[in-house]
Amino acid sequence: MINIAVVFADEKERVNWVQALQAAFDESAIEAKVSAYKAESPADTPFKADYAVGWLPPAAFFAAQPQLKAFFNAGAGVDAILRSQTVPADLAIYRLEDAGMGLQMAQYCALECLHVLGQREAYAADQQHARWQQREPRDALDYPVGIVGMGVLGQQVAASLRALGFPVHGYRRQDDAPAQWQGFLQATRILILLAPLTEKTRGMINAEAFSLLRPGGWLINVARGPLVVEADLLDALDRGSLAGASLDVFCQEPLDPSSRFWKHPKVRITPHVAACTLLQPAVKQIAAKMMQLIGGESPSGKIDRKLAY
Ligand code: GLV
Repeated sequence: MINIAVVFADEKERVNWVQALQAAFDESAIEAKVSAYKAESPADTPFKADYAVGWLPPAAFFAAQPQLKAFFNAGAGVDAILRSQTVPADLAIYRLEDAGMGLQMAQYCALECLHVLGQREAYAADQQHARWQQREPRDALDYPVGIVGMGVLGQQVAASLRALGFPVHGYRRQDDAPAQWQGFLQATRILILLAPLTEKTRGMINAEAFSLLRPGGWLINVARGPLVVEADLLDALDRGSLAGASLDVFCQEPLDPSSRFWKHPKVRITPHVAACTLLQPAVKQIAAKMMQLIGGESPSGKIDRKLAY
């Protein structure tokens, strides 16, 4: 019998995950008991878990579960859990790999790129003034897309945008040489961020990066807010060196009502929804990985604690 703990702050989310994970194991040959860990009343959950799944468990959870063999992060990014510093240094952590997020990211990025290509901002303004004005069409070939972070999600976004006619190139952290980074930016008009947040990537999109992009550049951030120096972004937008930005993530979330981003005419905001964790595909993937571990295999998606992703 293996014990699995489900650790989410939200009660409804806990219930859904417990049911779905239990169902996945009930259909298998492995005997498992899935239970919710209630951060608000830890004494109600006295079990000792072999594996846990969830989002940002409280410090008390890890302290009470020294026997835990692995933690499965119910999301693609692990920056938050690694930053919490309560996770034992030798605990295996797994992240979600795609699990329905690749398609969502591709759809979100396609919508934003087509918004730019289709000059929708300008046509919306024309509509406000009842102005029938056919503008010179834009050619996707003039809007090369550069993707920072060519992992599972980045590759799916790249394939979708190529199918829509955009030239796409990617930048990987391993390509680290400064000349390559500059060349990548100089060849980019629409910059898409899909990289993990680590000490190496924090603040990498700064004034210098904006100045290197092709004129009329556009930023799409669907990764993590702190990849971008937000003051530099506002400055680039104000000065017109950047035509606009589609922002799903911010340094501080929820975005403060007083933030200048809200009312900035060149900014399109969504509240961290570019790719949501979908219960069924996520549970299916995590249950399969747990079963691999139980069978002595090494599932993919394990975090390299040195690289922090
Ligand atoms: C969401 O931001 C995630 O990391 O899955």
